[in-house]
Amino acid sequence: MKQLKAVVLSNEQVLSYPGAEYFLMRLEAPEIAQESKPGQFLMLKCSNDTILRRPISVHAVTNSGEAHLLYAVQNGFDLENTARGKGTRWLSGLTKGSELDVIGPLGNGFKIEPSAKSILLVAGGIGIAPLKFLAEKAISMNINVILLSGARTGIRLLPENMFPARATTVLATDDGSRGKKAAVIDLIPEYLERVDQVLACGTEDMFKALSHRMESWPVTKPVQVSLEVRMGCGVGACYACSVITRQGKQRVCQEGPVFNIRDIIWQEVRI
Ligand code: FES
Repeated sequence: MKQLKAVVLSNEQVLSYPGAEYFLMRLEAPEIAQESKPGQFLMLKCSNDTILRRPISVHAVTNSGEAHLLYAVQNGFDLENTARGKGTRWLSGLTKGSELDVIGPLGNGFKIEPSAKSILLVAGGIGIAPLKFLAEKAISMNINVILLSGARTGIRLLPENMFPARATTVLATDDGSRGKKAAVIDLIPEYLERVDQVLACGTEDMFKALSHRMESWPVTKPVQVSLEVRMGCGVGACYACSVITRQGKQRVCQEGPVFNIRDIIWQEVRI
């Protein structure tokens, strides 16, 4: 983990729908690019005049020292009276050449089992952010990757060219406006026989539903999930990000953000 200045190379809106916009930020950050593992995140200082930091997962890295971040800016909040959306709104205003104060990479990312030959990635909405990095990493290890990416409607899914090129990508929307008409977690069972692991990123509701549906899966597979929670310090000091697990209280920023789904006591989770 390091605190450093990263330089913004570009920061562009990649999709927009009522309520939110997604931005892709490319940073010149050679140390972050070299050290980050899929599922890890950065704490970004989201203003020049506060200490507010925002956790954002690493979306991709390049051999040329770039770290890419995909993040959502929520719209519709009264920014004068709430902190919600303020940090990412500020981030979205950064332009080429801006300097960003970054701490990271942080947390424990996804773990691909040494024996894995094929893995299933499951993304709910902006949950695609860390899974692209994971897909590229797995593909570079000659592991077959099937990626299920779901959202409520088609305009909430990334454009085609942003999905990992060598993964088999299957899209799903609740209303059928793009890809299959289904909740993304309902597609999982048909792929289970073919994969060694399931690795997912999405909302608390998605994970709660997933942990329930797993009880009726035809086969048992290991499932890792990346939790997105509100954080304070991001470095293990404040316990603001704690969740209850079978091993006791654990910090999402330190022991996570990736957990075995079967270790989380979902009835106790209030993200
Ligand atoms: Fe402070 Fe995790 S955010 S301990």
